[in-house]
Amino acid sequence: MRTLQWLDGRLRLLDQTRLPGEEVYLDLQSYSDLASAIKELKVRGAPAIGVAAAYGVVLGAAKIRARTKGDFVVQLEVVLQTLASTRPTAVNLFWALDRMRRVAEKSKLSEVRDALLAEAQRLEAEDVQANHRLGEAGAELIEDGFTVLTHCNAGALATVEHGTALGVLRSAREKGKQVQVYASETRPLLQGARLTAWELIRDGFPVTLITDNMAGHFLSRGAIDCVIVGADRVAANGDVANKIGTYSLAVLAMENGVPFYVAAPTSTIDLSLPSGAHIPIEERAPDEVTQFRGVTVAPVGVKVANPAFDVTPHQYISAIITEKGVVREPYGDRLKKLMEEA
Ligand code: MRU
Repeated sequence: MRTLQWLDGRLRLLDQTRLPGEEVYLDLQSYSDLASAIKELKVRGAPAIGVAAAYGVVLGAAKIRARTKGDFVVQLEVVLQTLASTRPTAVNLFWALDRMRRVAEKSKLSEVRDALLAEAQRLEAEDVQANHRLGEAGAELIEDGFTVLTHCNAGALATVEHGTALGVLRSAREKGKQVQVYASETRPLLQGARLTAWELIRDGFPVTLITDNMAGHFLSRGAIDCVIVGADRVAANGDVANKIGTYSLAVLAMENGVPFYVAAPTSTIDLSLPSGAHIPIEERAPDEVTQFRGVTVAPVGVKVANPAFDVTPHQYISAIITEKGVVREPYGDRLKKLMEEA
């Protein structure tokens, strides 16, 4: 299963808002349609957003008519800014757009479109490779017979393929280990129920779906051997932004002596931010909370807060699993060293 696929001038996306009911593919030919698809979570998950946005730049570049390189760069900046304004938390988006910008700046006008396509394809291939490598590294932490709790969807759907948190489970299984998964439903948009459960069932994993507020119950009863989640941004000190509800799970895991792992490629690590307090947290529309699939479930006019992510302080995180290896405290020094090597 491929979350996205470049098909000679268009980007094919599996529309994640229609899952699990329908498997619908969208063929996008304009960068503004792609920007809307990212905002509406048709494609979501930090690494998938980054790669999709890179192809968005390719789509935008194809429509630019410019006589000079300077004129091309000015017009491309509009495309880059539009894509950058879609979602603020996942750093992979800005990381991918920066790479595309650098390629545009150093290419000749006659070659720039081909160079941008080649860079987007490189980003896609690197994501596949990073997920498989981090899966291999993380699989060492999983014992045969483990029951693992995960939150949101950090699977193949959130990346190009394989996944980060779910990639670790796939790699563990490839090594012959049996793994059971508890998936939390992930209010308000149900990425756990709609996407993780769908993806794992399809892949033959034994999966049990729970509501978010059941996690403490199962953690306190010894039903969970470890928690693995993905990340949208890892700050220099190891603080991690991930789907809202992750922080509560980390605190519950520590309280109950259960290891809490974050699986993230180095493209999710942002050393420019000293701590999680600096990570921008996306606030989404109130109707995601007041409505359930079009049915109003709260009094009209009620005040709503809807942060899409929270920050887990590094002291709750047992290890961060990357494609360059597994990092533990002290995160500050070790993440810096890892990124220098990367
Ligand atoms: O709002 P979403 O669905 O894009 O949020 C996704 C997550 O929080 C994932 O856990 C994260 O992006 C890591 S994906 C490998």
